[in-house]
Amino acid sequence: MEKRKITKTAGIVIDILMYVILLVQMIYVFTGNVVHEILGICFFVCLVGHIVIKRKQLLATFKKGNKSASRRVSDIVTMLLFIAIIALMVSSMGVSRTLFPWFRLAGSTDLHVYLATAVLTLAVLHGGMHGFIRTKKKKLAAALIAAGCAAAIAVGLALVPYLNRHFKTVEIDYSEAVSGEKVSWNGSKPLVVYFTRVGNTDFASDVDAVSGASLMLANGELMGNTQLLADMVSDAVGCDKEAITLTGEKYPSSYSDTVSVAGKELNSGARPGIEKIDVSGYDTVILVYPLWWGTIPMPVAAFLEGCDFSGKTVYLIATQGSSGYGSSVDDIKEMAPGADIKPVMSIYCDDIPDSRQRIGEWLRQTN
Ligand SMILES: Cc1cc2nc3c(=O)[nH]c(=O)nc-3n(C[C@H](O)[C@H](O)[C@H](O)COP(=O)(O)O)c2cc1C
Repeated sequence: MEKRKITKTAGIVIDILMYVILLVQMIYVFTGNVVHEILGICFFVCLVGHIVIKRKQLLATFKKGNKSASRRVSDIVTMLLFIAIIALMVSSMGVSRTLFPWFRLAGSTDLHVYLATAVLTLAVLHGGMHGFIRTKKKKLAAALIAAGCAAAIAVGLALVPYLNRHFKTVEIDYSEAVSGEKVSWNGSKPLVVYFTRVGNTDFASDVDAVSGASLMLANGELMGNTQLLADMVSDAVGCDKEAITLTGEKYPSSYSDTVSVAGKELNSGARPGIEKIDVSGYDTVILVYPLWWGTIPMPVAAFLEGCDFSGKTVYLIATQGSSGYGSSVDDIKEMAPGADIKPVMSIYCDDIPDSRQRIGEWLRQTN
């Protein structure tokens, strides 16, 4: 085969590989972290190959000249894609646990997912524009590009969070995750109060093997995300800790069923029965809660409304699957009148096992 043909075939293979890798990276819930990081390296190796093979076309992107409107759009997309890939590369290293644990710039998982979505969308647009320029069926090409971009955005912003919530099981070493530098607390020690699904759910005995739905195994034991965060706070400050525990019916084992029960509770303003927690002996409460339907779970509402918070300081830590802290802070302010509510720290559920240092720093800054 002549050299030109080999280069062309290599170019096509590399392009296909890059799209496949990008898509596989989106289902990292199933591939796991190590494979995800190695595939990330493979992507960037392919990118170098792509740049070398397509160097003439890429250089033409920066040249002025008599270009058609679609060529100019294609050039802008190529430049944006390049910028997005560089940003994704930095954020990949920032969130890396295995290959670049020492690199801590832009270490936000949310940002990483947004950048990956931007790269996937721009990559679809980039490939689509090449087809658009060549084809005579412009309308069909435009429709396919629009559908491809919409699908790419849906994969990044809807499918990834969905898979995370429904299929993810994280195994951690409990003492490694929880222990860390201590924080000297100004004033009397706070009480940490948390609510989590584990302990308040009728899990089937083999739930971890069956679905793992958004659960954590700490040294083989089922543990809630929020519980782990509460344990980190309690380890850092050396303070008491209480779990909000349902007295009545527990949440169903299935994640989706819990989501729908929680939705009904929110809409009906339900206040499920909980065991009494006495906060009267504490000036400060650190409330750790998961975001449910963009706000606090109703058992947390029952806790807040069942206690007198006037004159107390309340620190908030929220954990979530993508939506920050929603309306939870405003809702908490309404349910705990007279309390001095401090700004919330919101932690993406994936980041929890590595959050001990961040928790310590946050406690030092806020207290
Ligand atoms: C019923 C329910 C509703 C949820 N709603 C949201 C939501 O609106 N936004 C979000 O980002 N995450 C949502 N999540 C994800 C949880 O906030 C996240 O997985 C959290 O880390 C779970 O903590 P836990 O393991 O301590 O229960 C929801 C989870 C459940 C079970």
